[in-house]
Amino acid sequence: MKSKILEILEKSEGYVSGEVISKKIGISRAAIWKHIKKLRELGYEIGSKTNEGYKLIKTPDFLTGFELERILFTDIIGKKVLFFEEVDSTNNKAKQIAIRENEGTVVISEMQTSGRGRRGREWHSPKGGIYISFILKPNISPEKAPQLTLVSSLALVETLNSMDKKLDARIKWPNDILIKGKKISGILTELSSDIEKINHIVVGVGVNLNTEKNALPETGISLKNEIGENVSTKLFLRQFLEHFDVVYKEYITNGIDKIIERWKFNSDTLGKKVKIIGINETFEGLAKDIDENGALILKTKEKEVKVYSGDVSLR
Ligand code: BTN
Repeated sequence: MKSKILEILEKSEGYVSGEVISKKIGISRAAIWKHIKKLRELGYEIGSKTNEGYKLIKTPDFLTGFELERILFTDIIGKKVLFFEEVDSTNNKAKQIAIRENEGTVVISEMQTSGRGRRGREWHSPKGGIYISFILKPNISPEKAPQLTLVSSLALVETLNSMDKKLDARIKWPNDILIKGKKISGILTELSSDIEKINHIVVGVGVNLNTEKNALPETGISLKNEIGENVSTKLFLRQFLEHFDVVYKEYITNGIDKIIERWKFNSDTLGKKVKIIGINETFEGLAKDIDENGALILKTKEKEVKVYSGDVSLR
């Protein structure tokens, strides 16, 4: 209801009477008044004049889950957005609520106190960055869960590459996004499943959006650094979540093949000589391809091997 009222107010130049709103959405004028009150509490500046009605003066400067939900054109992703100023980790939060939430619910925070990276590392999460976790419940077998990392890295790299400024963002296997060889984003995918069936997957994406240079490691870069000006968090999230929705729907309808083609097109790793430090082993060779679950096919001196996870550096 609140969204509908806002939509009406946004579309009209002057004041709109309570009666007109009430006719359009079929609720009483008293109920409208209650929603207006709630909207004001949420930070919307709404003017009211006796005998004339209501007028939207300003949407909030700060972002809210409600505001994001309201502006998104999506079918699955972001139908519900939980927005925080600070959490320990958006992945932790998403995992706590995943059982009772619908797929597509997104947890977003402006800071994390215990951000987690791959392989048990810490993900430094200062203000300026944006930290996002998607709750997904695809009807696939558990061994295919890593495909969601491919879906997510593709959604992000394509979002970045569709921005006005030519960024040439690329995906470093397995799932880092780089600009000019420096890391702008990392992805941590976590699975809850039994042997046959997935309960849920939480995909966590950390993006250095407006992170100041001095808060970034030497190997990191932020969008603000690259573009030279502050990036609107609201606009970025809108573009990313809407594109994520498109790519995710393509995946659940048509499978992974086309996603992999596009992933390869945006890859920074394939075709290069690399060293990979895995959990127990180190490999060196030519990064030839990825398989349908995102494992890297590496041609070493002796043979071809599949590498499932690791840290890549160029030789
Ligand atoms: C990596 O490159 O090691 C992956 C980093 C993933 C960080 C994101 S930020 C949002 C989500 N919450 C977390 O605690 N981690 C992920």
